[in-house]
Amino acid sequence: MSALEDAVIGDGMIPRVQSRRIDEIIAGRFACREFSDRLIPRQIIEEILGVARFAPSGANIRPWHVHVLAGAVKERVSAALLEAHATSRDEHASEYKYYAADLPEPYLNRRQEFGRLFYGSLGIAQTDTVVRSRQTARNYAFFDAPVGLIVTIDRWLEVGSWFDLGMFVQNVLLAAAGRGLQCCPQETFAKYHRILRPMLSISSEQIVVCGISIGYARNRAARGSMPRAEVEALATFNVHGFRRLTATEQGEMIMESREQLIERSIPFLWQVKDMTPNAAMERWLNETYGEESALYKDLSRLIKQGVEEGWAANQEVDGPNYRRSRILEPTPETFHFSITAVYMNSADPRRFRDWDDSDVLRGQYHGHPYGELNLVVPLDKGAELKGLQGWQGPGWTAPDPGSRHYPEVRGGAVIALFYLPAGRISYDFKAPA
Ligand SMILES: Cc1cc2nc3c(=O)[nH]c(=O)nc-3n(C[C@H](O)[C@H](O)[C@H](O)COP(=O)(O)O)c2cc1C
Repeated sequence: MSALEDAVIGDGMIPRVQSRRIDEIIAGRFACREFSDRLIPRQIIEEILGVARFAPSGANIRPWHVHVLAGAVKERVSAALLEAHATSRDEHASEYKYYAADLPEPYLNRRQEFGRLFYGSLGIAQTDTVVRSRQTARNYAFFDAPVGLIVTIDRWLEVGSWFDLGMFVQNVLLAAAGRGLQCCPQETFAKYHRILRPMLSISSEQIVVCGISIGYARNRAARGSMPRAEVEALATFNVHGFRRLTATEQGEMIMESREQLIERSIPFLWQVKDMTPNAAMERWLNETYGEESALYKDLSRLIKQGVEEGWAANQEVDGPNYRRSRILEPTPETFHFSITAVYMNSADPRRFRDWDDSDVLRGQYHGHPYGELNLVVPLDKGAELKGLQGWQGPGWTAPDPGSRHYPEVRGGAVIALFYLPAGRISYDFKAPA
């Protein structure tokens, strides 16, 4: 987790769903440069722009304009810009200066650090100008995102209006991130305004400020998180009587852990509510919300806390090594998912032993009519839970709707925190002979 994520979504949580959700969106946004080919309905882009327009602006002059590109038009624009990048890049220039000619410190250093991290993450030597130029070209293909925006501003407006425009652009990025999409804001498009103008009917009164690629991240786990300065380094607190909370006050602010688990689950359930559990979703969950993700870390910490504190997996199904409890029945707030936890410990199995495999604890045969999203939290190193796709360590399983199985655990203790659409699970199915 980056320092920023630590700061906003780490342990010192503030007890309000809304602030948690917005913090998570802000800290979870990143400049995505690898998009999947999944398309985005026009309505989603309209929604994103519809909410982004609530950006503030001095005297409410709202100095933004956006051209939305998708399909054949986007392809034609990309082709023209790629051609220009390959053949005549020196003949084009942006109408504004993005960076100061002589970057002072600490900005020069930060820019160099970005170069090292960015090209390093792609395995490109910074001195390799040919490969770097090929990477720059990826900008003009919108990094294969299905939708591209070109953002313009009236050339008669001053720097204050550019400030407003930045807020609008950030709103677009956040509104997209809140819908599970990612973006890359790209000043690289400004350079090719002479090509963009006739193709998109951009009037001569407008300056092309940037582009924005929008789509689903191909591999969210591969997100390189760019460093951020600590709050102390960027803020000067010139205040008297602005005291820190005492430990007791802080304790009062922090929600009960059960409440926290529910609140932490809500944005996730919002994101997955229209997906169908199956092998592909299981892969996606493990890529997107694997062991290193903030979501996995938070949920696993909270459910472990729940088991320790005794509010989760507190009803014995068969002795202390096989316990279960429903934490929450389906509610509109959880998009009609229930939340349940199971604790299974194969280290000392009492019953439900799988006779073929002596250190496996086998649980009750059951079925999930609408599928299941199951967070696997091993308590012992190497402990695993068996899903339909095989043994799973820290991560997720997502059994399909209609699937039935024996839950099995090996290698020690595991907590399974699972979300059931409509709360449906049945232990009434007859196990195969
Ligand atoms: C206005 C603006 C223009 C940018 N232009 C580009 C660009 O042309 N190409 C690119 O790959 N990234 C571009 N970026 C992305 C930045 O490199 C990225 O935001 C920064 O390194 C921080 O990383 P993060 O957004 O993943 O946290 C731009 C960002 C902003 C805000």
